[in-house]
Amino acid sequence: MEILEEKEYAAMPRIGDLAPAFKAITTQGEINFPSDYKGNWVIFFSHPADFTPVCTSEFMTFASMEDKFEKANCKLVGLSVDGLYSHIAWLRTIQEKIKFKGMENIEVKFPLIEDISMEIAKKYGMIQPNEDTTKAVRAVFFIDPTGIIRAIIYYPLSLGRNFDELYRVLIGLKTSDEFDVATPADWVPGDHVIIPPAGSCGVAKGRMDGQEEGLDCKDWFFCTKELDKKTILEKVLRLES
Ligand code: BEZ
Repeated sequence: MEILEEKEYAAMPRIGDLAPAFKAITTQGEINFPSDYKGNWVIFFSHPADFTPVCTSEFMTFASMEDKFEKANCKLVGLSVDGLYSHIAWLRTIQEKIKFKGMENIEVKFPLIEDISMEIAKKYGMIQPNEDTTKAVRAVFFIDPTGIIRAIIYYPLSLGRNFDELYRVLIGLKTSDEFDVATPADWVPGDHVIIPPAGSCGVAKGRMDGQEEGLDCKDWFFCTKELDKKTILEKVLRLES
């Protein structure tokens, strides 16, 4: 297989960058991104094409979880290189006809961007020409309330995303911000969290001598502590009173 050289597709935003700005037409009207979302987390994601089965299963799953993301102060914004009328027709078909894994009559309420020129998709590195030159891959950008990209995940065309994992990533990022901790492999709320590494020999010694209460140190550089699920969820979710 011939591998295409990167030319006009080269620029890709990275973790820590400000999310590149754009104005777009969507199924929910015009948006200015990311400024319209200031103060909220956003998951900005692309899909290869309307009226395709994997994308349909993804949209049904994501739309059925929208309230859950909303409670975590996170808005969803989709994009494909299809036009607005294709988007509208596809979303209507999903709601009227498609049943999948117990889901039916699913209304996609979050905005779906039309990007026929591929301008936005290229800006975000969503067109990966050795996978496909005219369809966006399944990219996922987690953008924080100040407009900074905090995590990026890419999937190929053939693989549907795991939306529980996307939710876990969001809660993990928010937990790190709120509690100044890191989260270990396969972490879910309620598991031990990792505290920042010792920054001096004195702190390292103190931790190993048990001077910091509540820490479980496997070694000076690997200390965890309890952070209970209720405390996390009270901070990172909007809970009804
Ligand atoms: C799909 O969503 O089913 C799909 C889209 C593009 C290529 C392959 C599968």
